Amino acid sequence: PVQNGQNLRSPICCIMGHVDAGKTKLLDCIRGTRVQEGEAGGITQQIGATYFPAENIRERTKELKADAKLNVPGLLVIDTPGHESFTKLRSRGSGLCDLAILVVDLMHGLEPQTIESLNLLKSGNTDFVIALNKVDRLYGWETYPNAPIRKAIRQQSKDVMIEFNMRLTQVITQFKEQGLNTELYYKNKEMGETYNIVPTSAISGEGIPDLLLLLVQWAQKTMIKRLTYSEKVQCTILEVKVDEGHGTTIDVVLVNGVLHEGDQIVVGGMQGPIVTSIRALLTPHPMREFRVKGTYLHHKEIKAAQCIKIAAQGLDHAIPGASLYVVGSNDDIEVIGKSTMAY
Ligand code: GTP
Ligand code: MG
Ligand code: NA
Repeated sequence: PVQNGQNLRSPICCIMGHVDAGKTKLLDCIRGTRVQEGEAGGITQQIGATYFPAENIRERTKELKADAKLNVPGLLVIDTPGHESFTKLRSRGSGLCDLAILVVDLMHGLEPQTIESLNLLKSGNTDFVIALNKVDRLYGWETYPNAPIRKAIRQQSKDVMIEFNMRLTQVITQFKEQGLNTELYYKNKEMGETYNIVPTSAISGEGIPDLLLLLVQWAQKTMIKRLTYSEKVQCTILEVKVDEGHGTTIDVVLVNGVLHEGDQIVVGGMQGPIVTSIRALLTPHPMREFRVKGTYLHHKEIKAAQCIKIAAQGLDHAIPGASLYVVGSNDDIEVIGKSTMAY
C-alpha cells in the first residue's frame, strides 16, 4: 500500500549475536510464541524468519506514545544461529538484511560470535541496534512486563542501578575496543555515529517497545531510498527443504518485486540453472516463525519483502544462497541462467 505518498517495502532485519544471548527468545517475546523451548538443545540450527505487520508493531509500541507514523508495511526479521559452527548461516543472514539487531547478554558482555557478527555487519556496511539483553537477571530486578525500558529502569532500586551501570559501562568499553562508540539510545546525541543500545528482557519484555520503535523509525529515517519498493524481482534462496506434500521446496527471501503462482522462474542449481514454474507460494501466518512447521497460507501472488516457501518441480539441486529470477516474455532464459550461477 502507498502510505504518505511513499511506496516502501518492509525492512529486512537480521538478529545476530553469540549463542544463547537470547535472539530467539526475544522474537518469542514479540510473537507471543515458544519456539526457543522446542529447539534441540535450546540451540538455533537454521535461519528463521518472521513477518511482523505494522499494526502489531504499532500495538506493541503504543506506550511510547510515538507520534511518528509507521510508513513501512511491516518488518521481516531473520533469526540466525549464534553457535560457532554456523558461520555460513550468519553470513547468509547478514548479507540479506537492511539492518540488524546485535544481541549482547548483559551478564556476559561481548563474546566471540558477538565480535564475529559485528565484523560481518561492518563488512556489509549494515547499520544495527544493540539489544543489551537479560536485564531481568540483574540481582533484585523488579519486573514490569513489556514496559518501555526507561519506565522500568526508573522503578529499580539503587543497588540494581549500580550493577546495571557497571555492566553497561563494561559493554561500552568492550565495543570501544572494537572501534565502536555506543550509548544508551535515549542518551545518544550522535545518532548515526554512536550506535544505540537498548536494554531488553526477552523473558519479561522490558525494552521490547523501544527496540521495535527504534528499528522502524531508524529504517524510515535513513533508508528511504533503499526501502523504496521496486518492481524488479530481487530474491535469494535461503534453504532447500523436502516438505511433506510439497516435495522439494525452496525457502526464499523476496527483497523486491512480486511473485505469482505460475511464474516461470530460473534458480541456481548444482548441475546448472533450473528452469521451472511456481506451483505454490506458501507463508506461515504473520507473527509465526517460518522454520516451525505449521499451517501455510497459500498466495496467488505475494509482494516483497517476505520470506516464502516455493513449491515447484525440479528443485532438488537448487543451491542455498543462489538467486531466483522470474522469466519475462522478452527474456532470454540462457542469459538469465548464467546470472543465477554468479552468486
Ligand atoms: P542461539 O540461537 O542458539 O544462538 O541462542 P539465542 O541467542 O537464540 O538464545 P535463546 O533464545 O536460545 O536463549 C538462550 C537462553 O537464555 C534460554 O534459556 C533463554 O530462556 C534464556 N534467555 C534469553 N533471553 C533472556 C532474558 O532476557 N532473560 C533471561 N533471564 N533469560 C533469557
Ligand atoms: Mg536462537
Ligand atoms: Na540458544
